[in-house]
Amino acid sequence: MINFMQIYLVGGAIRDKLLGIPVKERDWVVVGATPQAMLAKGFRQVGRDFPVFLHPKTKEEYALARTERKVGKGYRGFVCNFDPTVTLEDDLKRRDLTINAIAQDKNGKLIDPYGGVKDLNKKILRHVSSAFTEDPVRILRVARFAARFGDFRVSRTTTRLMQSMVANHEIDALVPERVWQEFERALQEQYPERFFIVLHNAKALQTLFPEINPYLSYCRKILILAAKVKAKNTIRFAVLFSKATLDAVKSFCKRYCVPAAYKDLAILLVKHQNEFKQAKKLNAHELLHLLEQTDALRRPERFNDFLQACSLISDNHIITYLQKAYKIIAELPLNKVLEEKTSGQKIQQQIRKLRQEALGKLINLCCE
Ligand code: CTP
Repeated sequence: MINFMQIYLVGGAIRDKLLGIPVKERDWVVVGATPQAMLAKGFRQVGRDFPVFLHPKTKEEYALARTERKVGKGYRGFVCNFDPTVTLEDDLKRRDLTINAIAQDKNGKLIDPYGGVKDLNKKILRHVSSAFTEDPVRILRVARFAARFGDFRVSRTTTRLMQSMVANHEIDALVPERVWQEFERALQEQYPERFFIVLHNAKALQTLFPEINPYLSYCRKILILAAKVKAKNTIRFAVLFSKATLDAVKSFCKRYCVPAAYKDLAILLVKHQNEFKQAKKLNAHELLHLLEQTDALRRPERFNDFLQACSLISDNHIITYLQKAYKIIAELPLNKVLEEKTSGQKIQQQIRKLRQEALGKLINLCCE
């Protein structure tokens, strides 16, 4: 390395190390260097908008210290300055939260000009400077960190700053992909309900997720429950929308390009949760219809997720009953019917008849 180039570990890696939790990824900031100097050292440039380089061996990210100034709307509206005179303090100042703006030099010494360590100890999510407002994704990040660190609170001044970003329509510059990315990550945290509460406090919930806003207290309760049983993300998503209308689910999924696995389960739940709740009152024909509509036989794994989601939103214990019903039709021997030399349609009718008879026996058994 050339002498004047200084390298610091920054961001989440320092935060997580100080919190005593495993470090997932290490990001480095380089002060006093130029892109040419980095390339000469064998680094490979990857950043499109600002100079980020991959280390030739570790492949970890090294970014030149930079300042940013917003000149327009959206993600491309930045002027980025990364000349070698930009200091570490300048670079840390443009970051989102004080707890993410701590650096460590090669001797292990912490450089913490904005009180990140104090905020870590006091468990506060606090913005570093007014530069926070330059990136609306940070509103979602704050909410996501609240969902991850259940005992941290958002500083009042940061909440006010986020409210002003909503009021000034700065939040409107968010692109759907980034919103969904943060949403999905927040959902899988240990306290996912806090994501929505922080957004509500920032007055951002109605703008970003009007489908969830009317049911906030229900969403809070249901997500606490889902996180407690460590439900997988698609199930968390489905129960979150279980009080919404079909149109609301569809419009949310369209707006944020939600992947099919999430969308399908949420739609299934909105459509069929009432039949599920009434399952013990259904006759054989209706019970078979429910199993067919939920595509239980072709997609047993999703059917199982559906049952799990149902068990979270309903008090009754119908789940075992429907599992039995599923098992009965899944294991019903059909060889004889399939061997018959008749039309496909007739075979289908025969199979349905057999399944209904088998389900009828289950219903009678449960009524006794
Ligand atoms: N950062 C920021 N504003 C953003 C995104 C990132 O200021 N919108 C800064 C923060 O200093 C952050 C660092 O860039 O710590 C690295 O960002 P990233 O890897 O996205 O997040 P982490 O903080 O490492 O958190 P996570 O554990 O969620 O990945």
